[in-house]
Amino acid sequence: MTTFSLNLGSVKARHEDAVDAPALPRSPVQARQLSKRFGANTILDNLDLEIRAGEFVALLGRSGSGKTTLLRALAGLDRISSGTLEVPQARAAVFQEPRLMPWKRAWRNVTLGLKIDHPRQRALAALEEVGLAHRENAWPATLSGGEAQRVALARALVREPQLLLLDEPFAALDALTRIRMHQLILSLWRQHRPSVLLVTHDVDEAVLLADRVLVLEQGRIAADIAITQQRPRSADAPRFQQVRAQLLQLLGVELDTPASAQPETPAAPAPIITPFNFSNFSI
Ligand SMILES: Nc1ncnc2c1ncn2[C@@H]1O[C@H](COP(=O)(O)OP(=O)(O)OP(=O)(O)O)[C@@H](O)[C@H]1O
Ligand SMILES: [Mg+2]
Repeated sequence: MTTFSLNLGSVKARHEDAVDAPALPRSPVQARQLSKRFGANTILDNLDLEIRAGEFVALLGRSGSGKTTLLRALAGLDRISSGTLEVPQARAAVFQEPRLMPWKRAWRNVTLGLKIDHPRQRALAALEEVGLAHRENAWPATLSGGEAQRVALARALVREPQLLLLDEPFAALDALTRIRMHQLILSLWRQHRPSVLLVTHDVDEAVLLADRVLVLEQGRIAADIAITQQRPRSADAPRFQQVRAQLLQLLGVELDTPASAQPETPAAPAPIITPFNFSNFSI
């Protein structure tokens, strides 16, 4: 049975057979030998993960690889099957769809479920941060997709999370709105400095935003790539393209190379930085 207990301001979930994690962890997010099974299906398999305070981490992986399962475990929405998991108490998650209550005005959605003083002022301050103070009284049905997602972000912000979990939050948005949301997320992250785990299918988005990009495969973190380029990053920069190509190769995506650019004799295979075989990997 998995148990939850408070541990020095963080929440610790552990399997009764697991070895205790250190009392004072270096990083606010620590998963050790974490497994999650649904019936006979093992989705997360002895996964190890660490996210440092204020670190922005992106998580890539093919559909069905377990990204949402991991995020839900970190959010405390699902129990883990075995292993240990330590996360900050103050957490908030934003999903692909905004999940607003249609019968509550925008500001009430922001503070939904919170017992705080001056909820309206707090909601308004959070809405202001995402540029939506003027829509505080709007019904969710009257908001655009990008606006609704910004209300969802405000709802996360008002909880002052030390860990912000984002599960493909921009996936349903148009390209222009996505770019604006990228800028907004970065500026909010700089302002509040939570640890962030961003699940995405978009390699460019991951490299543009994150300090570190992880690839989930076969239930574990199969690749962990530090992005050292200074922000703001340009997708045209050679280093960006190098990292993008590396990640696409890890994800098993074939890049179209013009015939003229292909060498006559087969080149040696590019080095793979993990021992896993990604040849059947697709996203
Ligand atoms: N509650 C559940 N009960 C049974 N199986 C589940 C449950 N939730 C997820 N799964 C299974 O776990 C696997 C991983 O699902 P998950 O949603 O974590 O994948 P994902 O990497 O987020 O995929 P996507 O990129 O498509 O969102 C899938 O095979 C899914 O069917
Ligand atoms: Mg998912």
